[in-house]
Amino acid sequence: MSSTEPLRSTSPTGDVPPSFSLDQRTVDWVEHPSRPAVELIDQTALPDVERLLRLETVEDVVDAIQRLAVRGAPAIGVAGGLGVALAVRTLAEPGAAISALRDARPTAVNLARAVDRVAAFVHAGPDAVLAEALAIRDEEIASSDSMAAYGVDLFAEICGPQPRVLTHCNTGGLATVTGGTALGVVFALHRIGRLGGVVASETRPLLQGARLTTWELARAGVPFRLAVDGAGPYLIARGEIDAVIIGADRICANGDVVNKIGSYAHALGAARAGIPFIVVAPESTVDLATLSGADVEIEDRSDAEVVGFKSARSAPDGVTTANPAFDVTPSDLVTAVVTDRRVVRFAAGQTWDDVPLGPLRS
Ligand code: MRU
Repeated sequence: MSSTEPLRSTSPTGDVPPSFSLDQRTVDWVEHPSRPAVELIDQTALPDVERLLRLETVEDVVDAIQRLAVRGAPAIGVAGGLGVALAVRTLAEPGAAISALRDARPTAVNLARAVDRVAAFVHAGPDAVLAEALAIRDEEIASSDSMAAYGVDLFAEICGPQPRVLTHCNTGGLATVTGGTALGVVFALHRIGRLGGVVASETRPLLQGARLTTWELARAGVPFRLAVDGAGPYLIARGEIDAVIIGADRICANGDVVNKIGSYAHALGAARAGIPFIVVAPESTVDLATLSGADVEIEDRSDAEVVGFKSARSAPDGVTTANPAFDVTPSDLVTAVVTDRRVVRFAAGQTWDDVPLGPLRS
């Protein structure tokens, strides 16, 4: 496991560190003298303001998940698990609060899965519940290292020596506690001098690519360009991209990949140009109980997200919107899924059964 720093590394009562270090956990449990809390980097404030949110009630955790103050499949799983620990510590009857956490967002399987896993320890008492929630946090940290190792090897095999990659949404430490899924592989390629360039796709409507991925790439010293979402397939067609690399919110039994809206367009562009489309996600995002993407509840979000950003309006009053937060990329467009335990080549006809779980790597 990589050495990571607790999120609150300054004073225990304390004040927000002036800026976050690269290794800092982006979501964490903090045992204050009087009150326990879940703390996390407020992703809605980035990149302008670096601030921590201290969440002392389950309602606060649910709210933070729903308004994307914490987001990204593994990170919301960890927040949900820690939320259960908070429920058990602060409420005499935690059942309803645990259900609210589980239902806070529907699409990423990590959330319901983590909440269920931690809730299974409620009968064993608060310490056991917290231990399980912290175990999920630590597993996601270890998974990030392992995905990076598997991903670097896959890139060496199929993408040439200096691949120029396109990535979508935010899949770095903000989405995973530390490290990252797809962006973790990008960071690792950069560290070993095997990255030819990065295009970050801005990710309308909430701009996770423009606001968060660029913030993480800049802090890691990785050169990049930012592009509007619609430019991705054309940049691929123009020969400026050698591979697309994204994360996932849920990967189904048949290999369909559910990820941030816009992923499918990049997959179509990659298929048309014959370049690899690589998905990186931990096994905690693999959902063998869901047969295909058609069986996944895709979160629809508000009109307000589409008709403007922050206080700037970009459409007339009263327009009706379509705002699915995720899409489904069919498995035949997915060159490979890299997890923390294996690489499955769906476009080549492999299935999960063809590739048994391997070791966690670091
Ligand atoms: O709505 P978000 O920002 O939570 O969506 C996140 C994504 O779609 C990520 O690409 C996905 O969770 C994989 S990142 C680990």
